[in-house]
Amino acid sequence: MVGYKRTHTCGELRLSDAGKEATLCGWVATVRDHGGLLFVDLRDRYGRTQVMFNPQSDKALAEKAQSLRSEYVISVRGAVARRPEGMENAKLPTGAIELHAADMDILNRAETPPFELDTADEVAQEVRLKYRYIDLRRPEMQRNLIFRHNMIHLMRRYFDEKNFVDVETPVLIRHTPGGARNFLVPSRLSLGSFYALAESPQLFKQILMVAGYDRYVQVVKCFRDEDLRADRQPEFTQLDVEMSFISQNEIIELIEGLLARIMKELLGKDIQTPFRRFSYDEAMARYGCDKPDLRYGLKINEITDIVKESEFKVFRAVAEGGGQIRGFCVPDGAGFPRKQLDELTEYVGGFGAKGLVWLRVEEGGFNGPVAKFLTPPIQAAMRERLGAKVGDLLLFVAGTQAVCDLALGELRQEVARRLNLIPKDAFEFCWVLDFPLLEWNETDKVFVARHHPFTSPRDEDLPTLESKPGEAKAKAHDVVLNGVEIGGGSIRIHDPAVQTRVFRLLNISDEEAQRKFSFLLDALKFGAPPHGGIALGIDRMVMLLIGAESIREVIAFPKTQKAVCLMTGAPSEVEPKQLKDLGIKLG
Ligand code: AMO
Ligand code: AMP
Repeated sequence: MVGYKRTHTCGELRLSDAGKEATLCGWVATVRDHGGLLFVDLRDRYGRTQVMFNPQSDKALAEKAQSLRSEYVISVRGAVARRPEGMENAKLPTGAIELHAADMDILNRAETPPFELDTADEVAQEVRLKYRYIDLRRPEMQRNLIFRHNMIHLMRRYFDEKNFVDVETPVLIRHTPGGARNFLVPSRLSLGSFYALAESPQLFKQILMVAGYDRYVQVVKCFRDEDLRADRQPEFTQLDVEMSFISQNEIIELIEGLLARIMKELLGKDIQTPFRRFSYDEAMARYGCDKPDLRYGLKINEITDIVKESEFKVFRAVAEGGGQIRGFCVPDGAGFPRKQLDELTEYVGGFGAKGLVWLRVEEGGFNGPVAKFLTPPIQAAMRERLGAKVGDLLLFVAGTQAVCDLALGELRQEVARRLNLIPKDAFEFCWVLDFPLLEWNETDKVFVARHHPFTSPRDEDLPTLESKPGEAKAKAHDVVLNGVEIGGGSIRIHDPAVQTRVFRLLNISDEEAQRKFSFLLDALKFGAPPHGGIALGIDRMVMLLIGAESIREVIAFPKTQKAVCLMTGAPSEVEPKQLKDLGIKLG
């Protein structure tokens, strides 16, 4: 009888322990029979240790060990021994020793697992999610979750040192229109009424500023009923921050300090601060999107002025119609095969571009279907604008600003992927500032808030808020890592009169604002300090920092694309009685 009082973990024993007695507990990773000698790799969260059962020293024990299968839970006691010369495993921290078993308990048997832990990469997502407890046993997943733990722990320390107060805010809240689509929770005690699950603590953290807490922080679950993608889950975690009497620069510096520390302490990397900053307009013009990936070049340039009078009908027509011709240079890309160029043309078509002009830069001039329409002076001007040399490839889209932004922004990424231009292990942070305050929603013919309705317009835009709403810029800031938005925030409106004006712009009537946001408007009237903040997406950060493909790899129990938990089967039907208690009839 060994029991399960461990003396060591499976990752702990070293050569210096040789000769000691040890008891290990864990899961059977592998069983190998080497002509009578039985080798069992025992695994736990901390590592793996090789255990040897020798029939010559204990026949009954060796026979018992023969019955071991993958994922059995055992405890084993024995002597730590140096492995024979040449049998060491340099890849394992415990690889210099093995445990010579003297006794072993089978604590629990396991059915044959639905997949081998070592081959999980090839196993369908669905299987991994259904048997998540087995998937989470894999060292890769444990490493991800432990990295996440370390990052959150560091964040909490950082903010504690800086005098922030961690305050919990409610999850069951009043539904307020504006941001993401909310999950609703029917109230049993107020039949016919619903709570919303908080999409973020936004209004509560602002109210904590009114209440004088000065510096608030929280690691908090947020809930959004959105369509899901690789970097979106219906419930996800934010590092949420709010401060009073603060400038945008101070928020930016605080977050840069945090990110630099995370990079240094968790990845051993020195990153440069301050990060590069782009205005929204600049980001759109040069990268075609508001979250530029700076790990590679392929910067976009506009050439409308150069080609508007060329002989190429498409360029002329688009320029005359008020559109743009923009594109970028792919250094040494002239060898791009024709078939791939056709694929890229189709690719941009998916984003609304009517075509793709490609030009190979050759000694004697451009080569490509449109080259003949471009005179030598035009070609020279284009080359200069794009910084192109012989051997490069130029790609252009002609269309509206929105089409050029989208198509070129996506094309940049596609070309970078195809040409392997994205360096592994590169971390490029930047800020995007001066976002438009509002965004025109063509379907509903209304302005919607670009960030959320509580974001402050810039001071200089206040006088023209009503006359030129589309031009107003916000005191908003997004932080971007490798082309992914990892955080966003703003300076908030603290003047109730300005808040009312912004609600009106958003087509929220005074009556509706009063009905839905009276608590905020009231709070702003009772001594609201100037304040602002930011929230970082913790799941996305961990995903990027450890190089995972999806945030599912860094969340213990994530949901699928269809927002289903395959392990527990949520969401599920409920008993008719439960619905009746809630006054709900299914239609
Ligand atoms: P925002 O909506 O920009 O801001 O969210 C902040 C950050 O949270 C992450 N994020 C998500 N991560 C995973 N799945 C999702 N569905 C998801 N949605 C957002 C992103 C994003 O940058 N209250 C404001 C913050 C503020 O103004 O202070 C807010 O929630 O990384
Ligand atoms: P066409 O005149 O339609 O035969 O087009 C000649 C070339 O111009 C083709 O390679 C098209 O892909 C390209 N093209 C057509 N429209 C556009 C556009 N709006 N932007 C960029 N390229 C275009």
